[in-house]
Formats: sequence, structure tokens, C-alpha cells
Amino acid sequence: MMSIRPYAEQDLADIVAVFTDSVHQIASRSYTPEQLAAWAPLSPDLEQWRARLSGVETLVAESRGVLAGFISFTSNGHIEFLFTAPTFARRGVASLLYEAAVQRLASGGVKTLTTDASLEALPFFESRGFSVTEAQTVERNGVQFRRFAMTGPS
Ligand SMILES: CC(C)(COP(=O)(O)OP(=O)(O)OC[C@H]1O[C@@H](n2cnc3c(N)ncnc32)[C@H](O)[C@@H]1OP(=O)(O)O)[C@@H](O)C(=O)NCCC(=O)NCCS
Repeated sequence: MMSIRPYAEQDLADIVAVFTDSVHQIASRSYTPEQLAAWAPLSPDLEQWRARLSGVETLVAESRGVLAGFISFTSNGHIEFLFTAPTFARRGVASLLYEAAVQRLASGGVKTLTTDASLEALPFFESRGFSVTEAQTVERNGVQFRRFAMTGPS
């Protein structure tokens, strides 16, 4: 049984662990070891994450007390993070989180969502009706990444 609830301060370490595992185990299909290390350092900076999360709204998916995934978005509808723990992949976790974010944003009058999707997240967002507005190359920790600016259905 999967439940969705707002992020709480005590979830910080679990969220960062889900992010790190997800990048290294799921996104490793599409990115080089150098890219993975730059994107998700194996010794993450929790204070940097605390600051990152303070500017966005975050929802978490939880199953029997285990954090299965999370989504973070700005009040104007930009999805900053959407990550599922590898052990929960392809079981609808991201879909549940996405639908909850859509509902939350709709209640504030935001109908169209945007994101900057990784190669690994592109099929998920396409399955939700998003289309690519721009293919981008961005730099993180001195390493370049391909990603896609995408806009969702309105
Ligand atoms: C992208 C991600 C969040 C999807 O999470 P998930 O919980 O596995 O997704 P869901 O189970 O809700 O998938 C819903 C649908 O999206 C599509 N989809 C998801 N992952 C896919 C993949 N790897 N390849 C093709 N289609 C995919 C499918 O249509 C899927 O439906 P189906 O399983 O019935 O075929 C997850 O793969 C992830 O964390 N990836 C690595 C990190 C990352 O790149 N995050 C995004 C940063 S922008």
C-alpha cells in the first residue's frame, strides 16, 4: 500500500538516499560513471539538500514506512525532482507522485507543468503527455549533461 504525504524535515536523509540510489542504479543506463559521480556524489551534502528543498514543495511516496520516491515542484509548476527508489521502479510510484503534484498545483490555479528531464525520465514524462521544447546541454560540477526542457499538457 503506497501513500503520498508532504515531506517532513526528518525525511531528508531518506530522500537524499533515494536520489543517490536512483541516479546510480536507474540513470546509470543513460549516463557515464563520470556523469553519475558529478550528478549524485556518493557522499552527499545534506545541508545543500536542505537548502535546495527549502525553496520547493515536496511530496513523498511511502510504503510500510519505507520512502519509495519523491517529487519536488515550484509554486508555478516546474518539477525540480522526481525520483523513484530502484527497488520500487516501474510500480507506479512516479505516476502517483505526479498525479498528487498535479492536484496540488491545480488547487493553486496552475494547470501546465514543466520540467527539465534527464534521458532516463524522458519516457515517463512523454507517457504523461509532455513534449520536448528544447534539448539542452548543461554543466554540473564541471561535467556536461544532456537534458530536455519539457512542457506538460494544459
Ligand atoms: C523516471 C522515474 C522517476 C520513473 O519512476 P517510476 O516510479 O518507475 O515510474 P512509473 O512506474 O510511474 O512509470 C509510469 C510510466 O512511465 C513510463 N516509464 C517509466 N520509466 C520508463 C522507462 N525507463 N522506460 C520507458 N518508459 C518508462 C512507462 O510508460 C510507465 O508505465 P508502465 O510501467 O505501465 O509501462 C524513475 O525511473 C527514476 O527515478 N529515474 C532515474 C532518475 C531520474 O532520471 N529522475 C528524473 C530526473 S528529471
